[in-house]
Amino acid sequence: MDSRTMTVSDRMGVEEHRNWDDVDYSALLNGQAFPTNFMWGVATASHQIEGGNSNNWTRFEPTSKSGQESGIACDHWNRKEQDLDLIDDLNVTHYRFSLEWSRIEPEMGVWNEEAIAWYSDLVDRLLKRGIQPMVTLHHFTNPLWWEDLGAFEKEENIIYWIRFSSKMFECLSDRVTWWCTINEPAVYASMGYVLGEFPPGQRSFKKTRIVSLNLMRAHARCYRTLKSMENGADAQIGLVKNINLFDPYRRWNPLHRFQANLLDGMFNRCWIKGLKTGRFKPPSALRSIAVEGLKDSSDFIGVNYYTHLLATPFMPTKVEIDPLIRPWEERTDFRYPMYAEGLRRAFEMVAQLNIPIIVTENGVADDDDDMRPEHIRRHLHITSEAITDGFDIRGFYHWSLMDNFEWAEGYEQCFGLYHVDFETQERTLRTSGELYASIAKAHRMPQVVILAGGLGTRLGEKTEHMPKSLIEVGGKPILTHILDWVQGQGCNRVLVLTGHHGEQFDGFTHTGLDLAFVQETEQLGTGGALWNARDHLEDEFILLWGDDYHPIDYVPLVQSHRSKSSPLTMTVTTEHEVMNLQVEDGRLLKYSKEGDVPDDFNGYEAGTSVVNKSIVLEHGKDGAWSWENTIYPSLAKQIHVHLDATKFWDMGTPERLQKLEDFFNETRR
Ligand code: BGC
Repeated sequence: MDSRTMTVSDRMGVEEHRNWDDVDYSALLNGQAFPTNFMWGVATASHQIEGGNSNNWTRFEPTSKSGQESGIACDHWNRKEQDLDLIDDLNVTHYRFSLEWSRIEPEMGVWNEEAIAWYSDLVDRLLKRGIQPMVTLHHFTNPLWWEDLGAFEKEENIIYWIRFSSKMFECLSDRVTWWCTINEPAVYASMGYVLGEFPPGQRSFKKTRIVSLNLMRAHARCYRTLKSMENGADAQIGLVKNINLFDPYRRWNPLHRFQANLLDGMFNRCWIKGLKTGRFKPPSALRSIAVEGLKDSSDFIGVNYYTHLLATPFMPTKVEIDPLIRPWEERTDFRYPMYAEGLRRAFEMVAQLNIPIIVTENGVADDDDDMRPEHIRRHLHITSEAITDGFDIRGFYHWSLMDNFEWAEGYEQCFGLYHVDFETQERTLRTSGELYASIAKAHRMPQVVILAGGLGTRLGEKTEHMPKSLIEVGGKPILTHILDWVQGQGCNRVLVLTGHHGEQFDGFTHTGLDLAFVQETEQLGTGGALWNARDHLEDEFILLWGDDYHPIDYVPLVQSHRSKSSPLTMTVTTEHEVMNLQVEDGRLLKYSKEGDVPDDFNGYEAGTSVVNKSIVLEHGKDGAWSWENTIYPSLAKQIHVHLDATKFWDMGTPERLQKLEDFFNETRR
């Protein structure tokens, strides 16, 4: 064990430090470190990026530690579309942002419809790009009128925040699934009422206790209220908890241990225990109090993780004094150390809640970007390892999209994957941003390509000239059913090959997917359609038939494709009346679509495959040709087979169409 690989364990747990030089990060870039349906995100908060706000912070800023004012911040309010491009370019599937209550309800009971429309439009634009929004209802800022009422210092004020939250839930929950109630209640309480660095800049243990309790009450009420509303049952609503680890500076020193334990109890344990048991003992309180509705009031737990702090009885309470660090640790610009190992401990801490975990924030202040790439690699490595070890971690949001107004620190601490020049508002992707984008790209679900141009010639007069994929079954076009499935599997980019009657798809939409269409001038067959669309194909894509419904789990399919490094992985079922291929040792040996098949045929192509674009480029040609009759025989032995017995539904004949209709009506009931 070298000096950097130390683990000290006692009653307080383990403070592990790894020798990171030996860690193999290759899985991060080859798509093997995370499940394909993992949520890849970036996070921001309204006041930090929007600019032009008027709230408790703007009033406090002139007297804050840095004295810097948020001003126009990143001017995000006026640069929505441009900033969405930035998000898109990171290849993320999710975006976490907060709603600025002071804009939405600038005076008590007065709603600013324009502001509401701005957020609603943001949601629409995200969904159009296939990016799922995650909305935070409270991220440190309050409208002035509410601050003047005493904000979270008074229980009777909670009702106003709940009214705001329900109003916004009513507006957005038809499109937004992910909701965070309160961001970091322990930070809000301790920074505002112990350290005095956040508004209202006070130092009062008594108020800290009351505010903490009211934050928990507010969270619980918010959760219960939203859950009881329309769309509430389907929404995923959770609290966001900053886990700041406290380790004794000298483990042998009982005073250091005592202090670390005390701080951990106040900052972390009491909040988690509150959620778990429904009884909350606010920091420095003597007894716990039952909070109505608090027990199990989160569908997921958001974890914001940044660092650990080394505790002694004489810890600096002002951030100007450098915190203690281990000799081998590296300081971030914020002066606290990079300590990725602690993220695992944060997972262990919240895992006792037995709910899915989402890293809602992790990042680093590092203006020159010499540390952030390694910071990203380490924290993702720890997350990946924890998933392998069985932790239910669903996603990771990097903090932050771009440099922004870092509260009491002003503009000095730069957390962005994009650098922002605050003079010109120019954004520049940092090297770390490129890294994060390539890790997300290597892991996210492939693009989905749907061959949707085949006509319903055999299905009667009505559909003779209509693409089969548009035929309604179970109340909506089969293509919509397919897209619902695709979206549920975590895919967000879909290319529909519409055949030569593409105009019939005009106006076809599907919320939440980045949907594109490629039309043909003449009938090209399945192979010709793919060749025709080659410029729009990503390097790897999932290929589907637009007239088949095949509800299989994409995660094992894509993972097996990526691990076998085969150019094509085909889903095969052995449970079918007829056979059209022969499989041996996980490879396709022979394929024949037509006529009688030999006795040794033992499988049937079920319709969902993963294809590397290289095949299209190597075997493609102009004109009409069939994908399956050309590619399958010529690539036979290289094609990897994924066995899955899930029934697929086609609509080739009126009888089969009826069966599919019955199936959808059945599942809807
Ligand atoms: C907060 C963010 C902040 C970040 C970096 C988190 O505690 O939620 O608003 O910018 O830390 O300090």
